[in-house]
Amino acid sequence: MSALIYSPYEYEIHEDPYPTYQRLRDEAPVYRNEASGFWALSRHADVVDAFRDNVRFSSSYGVSLDAAVWGPNAHRTMSFLALDPPMHGRMRGLVSRGFTPRRVAELEPRIRELTRKHLEVALGRGSFDFVGDLAGTLPMDVISELVGVPEADRDEVRRLSDLLVHREEGRDDVPVAGVEAAFTLVAYYADMLAQRRAQPTDDLTSALLATEVAGDRLTDEEIMGFLFLMVVAGNETTTKLLANAWYWAWRNPGERTKVFGDPARVSAWIEETLRYDTSTQLLARLTTADVTLHGTTIPAGERVVLLVGAANRDERVFHDPDRYNLDRPDRELQQIASFGFGRHFCLGASLARLEARVCLEELIAHVADYDIDSSGIVRVHNVNVRGFATLPTTVVPR
Ligand code: HEM
Repeated sequence: MSALIYSPYEYEIHEDPYPTYQRLRDEAPVYRNEASGFWALSRHADVVDAFRDNVRFSSSYGVSLDAAVWGPNAHRTMSFLALDPPMHGRMRGLVSRGFTPRRVAELEPRIRELTRKHLEVALGRGSFDFVGDLAGTLPMDVISELVGVPEADRDEVRRLSDLLVHREEGRDDVPVAGVEAAFTLVAYYADMLAQRRAQPTDDLTSALLATEVAGDRLTDEEIMGFLFLMVVAGNETTTKLLANAWYWAWRNPGERTKVFGDPARVSAWIEETLRYDTSTQLLARLTTADVTLHGTTIPAGERVVLLVGAANRDERVFHDPDRYNLDRPDRELQQIASFGFGRHFCLGASLARLEARVCLEELIAHVADYDIDSSGIVRVHNVNVRGFATLPTTVVPR
C-alpha cells in the first residue's frame, strides 16, 4: 500500500479527499504532515472533542492553514472566529444582538424574491451555469442585503471575495491578488461604516454601530472585522452547499427522484449534502498544551486541523457513510460536524439552511428534471472550502 500523505493543497485531494480521509481515520488518527507543519484529526469523536475543548485547542491563530493569515493577528480579518474566551464571548455576544433569529427569519421573502430573479433569467435560457448564474450570486446578495451593501456594488464585492479564497495549485499561501482584494474590501467597508454612522438605516451595519451592552460598544475596527468574516464565512460556504446539493442529486438519480417528487424532503437533501460533502472541510487550531490521543502526543504550540469532512464520513457514527442517502435517520444527521461544535458553532447556520431551503424549493417548483454537462465541470481550489466553480446545467421546466 502507498505511503499515507495528506495535503489539503493537492488538487488530487480537492478532486476526492474521501479515500484519504478513510485511511487517516483507520491508519493515522493523529496524522502528522512534517513538510507543511501540521497535525490532522479525522475521527468524529476526536474532531468533536477538539471543537469543544477551546482551552487546549485555541482559535487565537485563526482557523486557516494559509501562512499569511495564521498567527496572533488573525482576528483582524477573521474577527471573533479567531478569538478565544473571554474576548470571543464579548464580540459574539454583541454581534448576536444585531444578528438575531428574527432578523434572519425576516429575510425569507427577500431571499425568495432574489432567488426567483436569478432563476427566471437562468430558466429563460434553458442551459446555464448553476454556480455562476445562481448559487454563486444568491448568498452574497443575501449577506449584502443583511449588512447593507447597495445593489450597484454587489458584483464587485462578490468578485473581491472570490479572489480572497482562490488558491493556486502547489502554493500554500494567499496569492497576491487575494491580498490586494482584501485591502480593497477593507477600504470599501470602512467607507460604508462612515456613511452609516452619519446616516443610520435599518441594516445590520447600523444595528452593530448602535449596539451597546452595559456601556460596551463595538469599535469600527471590530465591526469591519465582522463584515469581513461574514463574506468569508457566509458567502463561499453557502454557494458550495447549494452546488454540492445540485451535483450529488444529479449523480444519484434515485435520491433526486425522492426530493423532486416530495419538496417536503428538501431539508433532508440539505442535511445529507452537509454531511456527505460539506463545503468547509477543515478548521485549524493551535494547541496550548500537550495533547495525547491514541498514544501519540501533539506538543503545545502546534497547528492541528480538524477534518470536518472526514468526521462526517466516520462509520463509527454514520451507517454506510459513503452512500448519499436522503433517508438517513435524524439521530445520525444531528451529529454532522459541518457547522462545528461548542462556542464557535456557526453563527450563520440558520441563515445558511434558510437560503438553501428557499433556493432548492424554488428550483423544485420550476424544474422537473435536469442534467449536468460533466465535461464542463470545474472545481474550486481552496484549502478550507470544497465545491464547484462551474456546473453547466440544462433543465427541463415543469
Ligand atoms: C453551508 C454554509 C456554512 C457552513 C458549512 C459554515 C461552517 C462554519 C463552521 C464549521 C464554523 C465554525 C468555525 C470554527 O469552529 O472554527 C462557522 C463559524 C461561523 N460562521 Fe458559518 N458556515 C456556513 C454559513 C454561514 C453563514 C451564511 C454565515 C453568516 C452570514 C456564517 C457565519 C459564521 C460566523 C460569524 C462564524 C464564527 C462563529 C464564532 O467564531 O463564534 N456561516 N461556520
